[in-house]
Amino acid sequence: MAFPVLQNDVFLRALQRQHVPYTPVWLMRQAGRYLTEYNETRAKAGSFLGLAKNPDFATEVTLQPLDRFPLDAAILFSDILMLPDAMGLGLGFVAGEGPQFARPLRTQQDVEQLAIPDMNQLRYVFDAVSQIRQSLNGRVPLIGFAGSPWTVTCYMVEGRGSSDYRQIKTMMYAQPAMLHRILEVTAQATAQYLNEQIRAGAQAVMIFDSWGGVLADGLYQQFSLAYITKVISQLERNHDGVTVPVISFTKGGGLWLEDIVSSGCDAVGLDWTVNLKQARKRVGDRVALQGNIDPMALFGTEDGIRQEVRRVIDDFGPVTNGGHVFNLGHGISQFTPPQNVSFLVDEVHSYSASKHA
Ligand code: CP3
Repeated sequence: MAFPVLQNDVFLRALQRQHVPYTPVWLMRQAGRYLTEYNETRAKAGSFLGLAKNPDFATEVTLQPLDRFPLDAAILFSDILMLPDAMGLGLGFVAGEGPQFARPLRTQQDVEQLAIPDMNQLRYVFDAVSQIRQSLNGRVPLIGFAGSPWTVTCYMVEGRGSSDYRQIKTMMYAQPAMLHRILEVTAQATAQYLNEQIRAGAQAVMIFDSWGGVLADGLYQQFSLAYITKVISQLERNHDGVTVPVISFTKGGGLWLEDIVSSGCDAVGLDWTVNLKQARKRVGDRVALQGNIDPMALFGTEDGIRQEVRRVIDDFGPVTNGGHVFNLGHGISQFTPPQNVSFLVDEVHSYSASKHA
């Protein structure tokens, strides 16, 4: 498929550690409930799933934050739970309670029956990718994404968000082979899912390991990172003559930075507990870094927000060859005042431009 020529490649260049005129910025969950226009589209669609499963609506909300702020990348509007939904678990959203599966994986039989879904069931995702890429008209690159096998499996086994991960950790400690089987199927499915997004037009892909950080050292490597590595090794990263960079983000994964680098990703996403200067020293020029302001910093004053942005950019230090993509350390809160996002994006661009000269 032919797409409009890319006008702003600063994000892709930074990921490949090439020279950039300023530090590019985008925000995890940049399309969402903190924007009134998102809530209006969601009301039109009837529900979050109605929104995410309709490529026209998904395109509309993906572009909304770009119309407000001069962001350097767009991210597909979807969810990490669409893949297990296609695996037959029955995704639903209960108002105020977040995602829930009607058929979580609990018994040996549930696990034996789990299979890689026919990717045609996720056609609406790939159609949205192509449609967004066309509608972007080359403004900025489009990021595709999936959850890490571990994080997606947390929801598949718990059936919903959890505070103690009791079900999945019980399986991990008592029946590890059963858990490995779920992770293996999910990893294969995730690789196919991301490859389809790349074929449909995604110009970078990100793996969200939101709950890897709840694992013990040693078990993180075995139950989360090993499967992220498997996914990455199967990605078709050369598409249409260009490289598709892979960003790997484990929330709470700062202690395992060197291990994460060895998974084969091009960039590591970091949360706000990590100092970027120290992280950079640890990874050298092997990968780019993405992050890492605390999303709650957006509840500060304009001055406070600008100061935090400068601190993060200064921590990363002198930029000769890109290597830094500015982002939050986790998703933006639904209560964030949009005006504060303008201050953040403006400060990233203006302050970093003076340093990239
Ligand atoms: O970043 C973007 O703008 C792209 C869209 C995106 C969504 N979810 C939309 C969404 C992305 C990248 C995700 C990823 C996702 N989904 C993750 C990994 C990232 C992270 O935040 O850790 C996880 C763990 C999920 C699972 C999920 N989906 C939860 C826990 C929830 C409920 C959270 C809440 O705030 O209510 C969702 C729903 C969801 N996914 C919303 C959005 C905008 C809110 C739904 C709504 O409109 O009511």
